[in-house]
Amino acid sequence: MKKLIVLLLAVAMVFTLAACGNQQTPVEEPEKTATESAYKGTYDVLKMATNAAFPPYEYKEGEDFAGIDVEIATAIAKELGAELEIVDMEFDSIIASVQSGETSFGMAGMTVTDERKEEVDFSSSYATGVQVVIVAEDSDIASLDDLEGKKIGVQLGTTGDFYATDDYGSENVTQYGKGADAVIALKGGDVDAVIIDNEPAKAFVAENEGLKILNTEYAVEDYAIAISKDNADLLADINKALEKLTADGTIDAIIAKYIKAE
Ligand code: ARG
Repeated sequence: MKKLIVLLLAVAMVFTLAACGNQQTPVEEPEKTATESAYKGTYDVLKMATNAAFPPYEYKEGEDFAGIDVEIATAIAKELGAELEIVDMEFDSIIASVQSGETSFGMAGMTVTDERKEEVDFSSSYATGVQVVIVAEDSDIASLDDLEGKKIGVQLGTTGDFYATDDYGSENVTQYGKGADAVIALKGGDVDAVIIDNEPAKAFVAENEGLKILNTEYAVEDYAIAISKDNADLLADINKALEKLTADGTIDAIIAKYIKAE
């Protein structure tokens, strides 16, 4: 009996030692290096075409650029091993700049539309936008129907511009270079309403007294990154990077930093 116990103890010790031995020599994962990167291209500098007058997606803080798109683009560039350079321009010029190769991609709270898809490729969507209507607090405009025959301000070349022109007639639409200028025109009584994306609308209404956003969703849209049709590798790489940054929570964290849940 005693012998049996000794034997069992010995066997148990061997197992314990073996287990310890195992712990001391963990299987080492080979370190991933940039050369083993899953990406198709190699990039030194990625140039982002934007219109930095569209808070909270892109705006200037003194000399610096800030916002959701700026931070997501920075994370994508880092993921692709590149430095991000931001090229600020008119919103209306972004697609041409991407097409000509002057910039690598366009990111500007840009809505995916069929017309634009004929000119550029779009990445997977990283955010949703809603077109809304801003009016003066004491306005008699309460619904989309009330906009009929009213003066509408928009940012030139945006989907708000296209919808307003299609639905209410170009004679009723005034195009401004910046959304903020349309809002100033609204405050000054030059237009009766502004049609613009919901998050910039909230930012502009918060900055300007006497304005409100109508409780009506004009259109729900997907925002995505515009890439030249000649740059399929970059499109694939940006989509892959976006996928990774979505899976690891980076994109949600960036959006949550700028858009507080209501
Ligand atoms: N989402 C709208 C569009 O694509 C407006 C975007 C305006 N963006 C800007 N950075 N100004 O037409």
